[in-house]
Amino acid sequence: MSSSATRDSFHSRIGFVLAAAGSAIGLGNIWGFPTQAANNGGGAFLFVYLLVTLLLALPALYAEIYIGNQAQKNPVSALAQACGERFKNTGRNAGIIGLCGAMMMLSFYTIVAGWMLAHALSALFELIGLTDISTWLSTSSTLRNILFTPVFILLSAAIIHQGVHAGIERWSGRLMPLLLVMLIGLVVYILQQEGAQAGVALYLIPDFSQVTNPKLIIAAMGQAFFSLSIGVGSMMVYGSYIKKDQDIGKLVVSIAALDTFIAFLAGLLIIPALFVAQHAGHEVFTNGHLIGEGQLIFNILPSLFASMGSVGLIVSFSFFTLLSIAALTSTISSTEVPVAYLVEDKNIARKQATWLVSAIVLVGSMTLVAFFDVLFGLVIQMLTTILQPLMSLFYFLVVGWIWQRGNKLTDLAQLQNNAKLKVFGFYLRYICPILLVIVFINVAF
Ligand code: PFF
Repeated sequence: MSSSATRDSFHSRIGFVLAAAGSAIGLGNIWGFPTQAANNGGGAFLFVYLLVTLLLALPALYAEIYIGNQAQKNPVSALAQACGERFKNTGRNAGIIGLCGAMMMLSFYTIVAGWMLAHALSALFELIGLTDISTWLSTSSTLRNILFTPVFILLSAAIIHQGVHAGIERWSGRLMPLLLVMLIGLVVYILQQEGAQAGVALYLIPDFSQVTNPKLIIAAMGQAFFSLSIGVGSMMVYGSYIKKDQDIGKLVVSIAALDTFIAFLAGLLIIPALFVAQHAGHEVFTNGHLIGEGQLIFNILPSLFASMGSVGLIVSFSFFTLLSIAALTSTISSTEVPVAYLVEDKNIARKQATWLVSAIVLVGSMTLVAFFDVLFGLVIQMLTTILQPLMSLFYFLVVGWIWQRGNKLTDLAQLQNNAKLKVFGFYLRYICPILLVIVFINVAF
């Protein structure tokens, strides 16, 4: 039997879309996007974000999934294969760099996800009257990180070791609808509170004077790449688990639409919630900027919820459970990258590979916990503003130029006589790399 016949896979297109949307929808949508939007002119950020997603992130997502889907292999082998005999090693090395990016992502993401779990439990303990434990759980401390980060790593491992269909597809199918229902419920609740309207106005009315601000464009680009999980192989490995020659374009549009819709809804939850808190007397903004940047939601929102009595505690529990679920479907996709590589290229059994990867992630995250002030922000910055865009540039070059020493998409378009694909092939070959390089030059100078 050939190895591809024994390869685990998604059993349906919807299973794939939910899993990929699960990877995309995460802390980046529900925590990152709204705080960035609140800090960068609300509607102006939303506008630029949509533009960058359409112009750059969507084509990059297409390229990433396409490479994985054609190869039907893990990202390291897939990139090696796409680069052909001559550039095989370059492809392989790029695959390894992406894999390291996935591990970097896991090392900080599991820490933040641990905070979410702790906050969710804190609301539960408060509800049953165990106030001391509840306060400890909602107060950040190194001990809390040391206890909750491994819990989250274990949760991901428990799903990943079950495999692609029985683990990833099954759990994404359960968790994603739950997430949507919880999010809509929370938005409806918050919008009814006093003060929410001012938040809705800030969020939806763009201040166009900010639209050309280079800082805003770069922030929006980093956010878009991170939000669509591009550049570390997660989407490539998922793409390798669906049958070859699917209509990738349609799938990519569904994933991006779901991801953007959830980010939009999360903005409609968090920004009005901050204004509700302000209305209730909490200090939230100074000079139009959020106090304490992104950390704010951990201080403001729990105290806002607590001031709403036991309903507030249920809201708080739902909110942080929602964030934990979103985080879990994202961490499983990053964990799958090194696991698939170890299983396929190094012949390690899936269970062992899962534990090995989890152990390495634990070492990485504990290193971040130990040197939190120096490393935490730095790792996030390096991943989102350097590694992810650079890997996307590499994907454009592979699909546009290197593959079969030419433009793979244009060849395909000619073969199928497909005009839309021809235009897209041209766009991906010339415009995308140029746009990305322009943004890079802007970052550097
Ligand atoms: N897209 C996820 C989010 O928005 O939170 C983060 C992410 C998941 C990044 C998976 C990279 C990745 F491979």
